[in-house]
Amino acid sequence: MSLPFTQQPLDRIPPAVVPAEDVTLHVNGQDHTIKIAPWTTLLDALREYLDLTGTKKGCDHGQCGACTILVEGKRINSCLALATVYQGADIQTIEGLGTEENLSPLQQAFIDHDAFQCGYCTPGQICSAQGLINEGRAKTEAEVRELMSGNLCRCGAYPNILSAVMEVLHDGRVTVDNGRLVTIPAQPTTSSSVS
Ligand code: FES
Ligand code: FES
Repeated sequence: MSLPFTQQPLDRIPPAVVPAEDVTLHVNGQDHTIKIAPWTTLLDALREYLDLTGTKKGCDHGQCGACTILVEGKRINSCLALATVYQGADIQTIEGLGTEENLSPLQQAFIDHDAFQCGYCTPGQICSAQGLINEGRAKTEAEVRELMSGNLCRCGAYPNILSAVMEVLHDGRVTVDNGRLVTIPAQPTTSSSVS
């Protein structure tokens, strides 16, 4: 007995039509309307449609933190977020934290503390640190390490990243030496005497 033929030959399958819809995202203070498939992640919407390539794609599975951005001031992994869900939300990427002429305190601290090597994880680290500061929960070095443990650095720049974050958290010159917080003595200011 011959079985009924249930599949169309491959050459008769019509080409897939990708559904697309208008989505308006509020990123770094500006509205952007883009036409995307409903399954587009926020990460891909930012990088591929808005040309905001500061946010990096590492694992694309929520495991490395390279894609960390801020939504309503809270950090999220944008590779695990669907863009359509975040319409109307206040989205902030590394491009929105500061400008070349006016870096944010964290951006400046990362430079001052040499807190990167290849720099691939850096935007995610900075956004994560900003979110952590917004949360107001981390005060100690151990808490910062714990609360930023989702941000991986393949170069191993952790001591300097920690230094930079601690400095901004304490709003002063603080560094980490051999696992301990050390306050950097203020530079003596030169005063000109008036006779
Ligand atoms: S790319 Fe999103 S967590 Fe790795
Ligand atoms: S500086 Fe290279 S991955 Fe972190």
